[in-house]
Amino acid sequence: MIGPKIIQLFVLQSVFLVLGFCLETDTISFGLYIKDPDTIISRGQVFKLGFFTPDNTTNRYLGVFYTVSEKTVIWVANRDKPLNDTSGTVSISDDGNLVLRNGNNEIVWSTNATTSPMNNTSLQIQDTGNLSLRETATGNKIWDSFSVPSDVFMPTMRIVDNINTDKKVVVSAWKNGSDPEVGRFTAGLEALNIPQIFTWNNGRPYWRSGPWNGQILIGVQDMYSPYLDGFTVVNDPPGTFYFTAPEGKFLMKITLNSSGSLVQTLWDDQTKNWDITWLAPQNECDIYGTCGSFGNCNAQGSPICSCLRGFEPTNRDEWERGNWTSGCQRKKQLQCGQGGGDGFLRLPFMKVPDFAEQFPSGQEVECRRACLSNCSCIAYAHDPNIGCMFWRETLIDVQQFAGVGVDFYIRLAASELDNHKDKKLIIIIPVVVGFVSVSALVIIAWCWMVKAKDKRIFEAGQTFSSDSNAIVLKDESERVNIEELPLYTFETLANATDQFNETNLLGKGGFGPVYKGNLANGKEIAVKRLSAASGQGVEEFMNEVIVISKLQHRNLVRLLGCCVEKEEKMLIYEYMPNKSLDVCLFDPTHPSQKVLDWKKRFSIIEGIGRGLMYLHKDSRLRIIHRDLKPSNVLLDEDWDPKISDFGMARIFGGNQDHGNTARVVGTYGYMAPEYAMEGRFSEKSDVYSFGVLMLEIAWKLWSEDNGLAFADEAIASPDFQGEIVRCIHIALLCVQEFPKDRPTIQTVLSMLSREIVDLPAPEQPVFAEKWNGTNMGSTQPMSQVGFSTNELTVTMLDGR
Ligand SMILES: *[C@@H]1O[C@H](CO)[C@@H](O)[C@H](O)[C@H]1NC(C)=O
Ligand SMILES: *[C@@H]1O[C@H](CO)[C@@H](O)[C@H](O)[C@H]1NC(C)=O
Ligand SMILES: *[C@@H]1O[C@H](CO)[C@@H](O)[C@H](O)[C@H]1NC(C)=O
Ligand SMILES: *[C@@H]1O[C@H](CO)[C@@H](O)[C@H](O)[C@H]1NC(C)=O
Ligand SMILES: *[C@@H]1O[C@H](CO)[C@@H](O)[C@H](O)[C@H]1NC(C)=O
Ligand SMILES: *[C@@H]1O[C@H](CO)[C@@H](O)[C@H](O)[C@H]1NC(C)=O
Ligand SMILES: *[C@@H]1O[C@H](CO)[C@@H](O)[C@H](O)[C@H]1NC(C)=O
Ligand SMILES: *[C@@H]1O[C@H](CO)[C@@H](O)[C@H](O)[C@H]1NC(C)=O
Ligand SMILES: *[C@@H]1O[C@H](CO)[C@@H](O)[C@H](O)[C@H]1NC(C)=O
Ligand SMILES: *[C@@H]1O[C@H](CO)[C@@H](O)[C@H](O)[C@H]1NC(C)=O
Repeated sequence: MIGPKIIQLFVLQSVFLVLGFCLETDTISFGLYIKDPDTIISRGQVFKLGFFTPDNTTNRYLGVFYTVSEKTVIWVANRDKPLNDTSGTVSISDDGNLVLRNGNNEIVWSTNATTSPMNNTSLQIQDTGNLSLRETATGNKIWDSFSVPSDVFMPTMRIVDNINTDKKVVVSAWKNGSDPEVGRFTAGLEALNIPQIFTWNNGRPYWRSGPWNGQILIGVQDMYSPYLDGFTVVNDPPGTFYFTAPEGKFLMKITLNSSGSLVQTLWDDQTKNWDITWLAPQNECDIYGTCGSFGNCNAQGSPICSCLRGFEPTNRDEWERGNWTSGCQRKKQLQCGQGGGDGFLRLPFMKVPDFAEQFPSGQEVECRRACLSNCSCIAYAHDPNIGCMFWRETLIDVQQFAGVGVDFYIRLAASELDNHKDKKLIIIIPVVVGFVSVSALVIIAWCWMVKAKDKRIFEAGQTFSSDSNAIVLKDESERVNIEELPLYTFETLANATDQFNETNLLGKGGFGPVYKGNLANGKEIAVKRLSAASGQGVEEFMNEVIVISKLQHRNLVRLLGCCVEKEEKMLIYEYMPNKSLDVCLFDPTHPSQKVLDWKKRFSIIEGIGRGLMYLHKDSRLRIIHRDLKPSNVLLDEDWDPKISDFGMARIFGGNQDHGNTARVVGTYGYMAPEYAMEGRFSEKSDVYSFGVLMLEIAWKLWSEDNGLAFADEAIASPDFQGEIVRCIHIALLCVQEFPKDRPTIQTVLSMLSREIVDLPAPEQPVFAEKWNGTNMGSTQPMSQVGFSTNELTVTMLDGR
């Protein structure tokens, strides 16, 4: 008697489990249905399709949401037709469409994709979040939810602009937090002329990304690294442009929220939160056309709007009241060839205006010539990947950035250019003027202190309090006693470098040219001169002085002194006769090609490692370099490496071990993905750069048939191949995607010295994976590394 009852219970329970919770299936086929609150779940358990209720309402909607975060809805079916109760069902209808029915069995929503009756379709939810309706038998695609996005842009989704039919696939915001109905804001691609991303408010531009140059959107300040975040614009088939991003390891989404902000977030599995990694607009200047036609917006300015040089407010009263919408007008008409002609005014670090016309051309001079010869051209700019950009009629949505952006040239009557030569500086400087004066005061005060031979306590933490994005020395509590640093006079240095003669130019450092000099006593020095026009440099100059004056290690370049006189700011280093590592590695004519055999290269790797170790662990301060790359590694007469260029470095307090910055600085190929993408840096991001550097040092020797470098040594040491492979293996451990997987520099050194013998297997490096997913050109900095992972894996197995 008991038996059947148990079975009955068991069956009931199973039915309850299956229907009441979550159908452990990813597919709805004909004859099956799901009923509120059932869900189906994608195969990898990433997404669910089911019913949900937004905040502050009782309405029910059918949507797709994350398994880890069920409140986070990425797609809604019945956006404008809510269900008023929990009686909704979803099924495949007789005509093969996916339909949502209410309690009265009325169709509330349908995919509307087929018209003729068919019963052999099924709907599958995929791990990308895509719902895919297909013919079961043939697998033919009938409909998919990624082609009709709601308010979220997902990796692999395509935001389309067909310029032949003018059909767009856009993301459209909710009305408000409790109403998924299509609201005021939409976002999409505008591919006519040069592709740009737009947010529209009731169809009027609200935010603009600036042109896509094949790698980045050049009007987005914090978009640095094309292959790391992987966004791309594709034109395929011709005329159909789409913006997309590959699937990554993180859960990433970009939401257009109901107040018109595009918000990029990443799921943090530890805190169970969505971390905001980017958003637009970020300030009033990002809002389209804030300053009107011919107005220039500078978020750091006060007021933020000014007229472009050569223009004046159209309506001065309005303008002064802070209503900038009517913009500016030209003061002197263009001559266009008559009476003195026109010239161009260069504005650096700009977000270029809307309505650019493209003219592919390699050279900037060609752009200038073309613009000058056409009277309707009022401005031009040049981007190496786009070629020339020209503007006619109006210049709108112009923005002054700080340190990123392109050079933008506006055409002005020649008289306009001559009269105001002095004003040229004014346009460039406002951004930094405040900071320059503060820093200059600090430098002067400090050098004065040193001059007075007064080993005064220097409170580093206060130096930069004027700029929250600038260098913040975290050890504010720790007072740093700066070593005495000799001061050089401008005259001494001018004489030493033969008046900064071109022939003594060694190269360009982080913020200005570097000259070779000979002091009167015969000592050779290198002089880094802060270029006066560079607003960025001051910050880095101060940083470098502070950081480097506190360090001493045989693998770090030594600062001999500084010079601060009037406008001049210079740093004096010991001279490195063998230049920098990039010259040695990449210049085939450099004599080092012969000198740098594997043994030497290995000791260079170790030397850099030890320098880094000193920065991270051994010095009293903990320092993250943030811009480690071959050009920042100098070689002394014995080819011993010395890390230089501390302009970007950051100092950390004892127990702080990672930071975040709004301003990502550094060099693409060498930047760790978490730093390039999210501005998060740590010792592990330096390890990443070190890994890339090792690959470059070792791989080149390995991959090229570099007979000269191998010569004697190679034959003498049968183990050298194994050693190179080992180095490459260690390097691959350093460039793993997740910081936690990368070894510390200490471990790296132990591996190099074979204190640690067994090496773990590296994950596939992040760049290789993303690289394959996108159709980028071959001009990336990373191509210097020039290898394919597959090849490498095979080689490594063979090698060991
Ligand atoms: C809910 O909607 C259905 C169909 O529109 C309607 O018949 C029903 O009366 C509504 N119920 C309530 C409580 O409003
Ligand atoms: C489907 O088509 C019907 C009739 O043409 C229309 O009323 C309905 O809004 C459409 N539904 C969708 C989701 O497009
Ligand atoms: C498809 O529909 C036909 C009638 O329209 C029915 O005979 C057949 O069994 C259905 N097939 C399936 C797989 O449900
Ligand atoms: C559905 O299946 C039937 C028979 O299996 C087939 O003839 C028909 O072509 C299918 N529907 C479509 C739209 O192909
Ligand atoms: C979404 O589903 C459709 C239909 O199956 C498919 O063609 C498309 O490639 C899918 N898109 C993504 C990004 O998975
Ligand atoms: C959201 O919009 C709906 C109408 O579209 C309105 O009834 C509701 O009050 C709004 N909710 C909030 C929180 O603004
Ligand atoms: C819901 O209402 C609460 C209280 O009024 C409010 O704080 C919250 O922001 C609302 N949520 C949404 C999404 O509108
Ligand atoms: C949209 O996002 C911005 C930026 O995160 C935020 O300030 C704003 O409050 C959001 N709006 C809504 C309605 O959530
Ligand atoms: C700003 O000026 C424009 C054009 O004159 C006018 O239409 C608009 O109402 C003004 N806006 C404000 C906030 O005064
Ligand atoms: C000047 O440029 C415009 C637009 O770029 C073009 O339509 C026109 O033909 C050009 N005129 C000459 C003389 O090149």
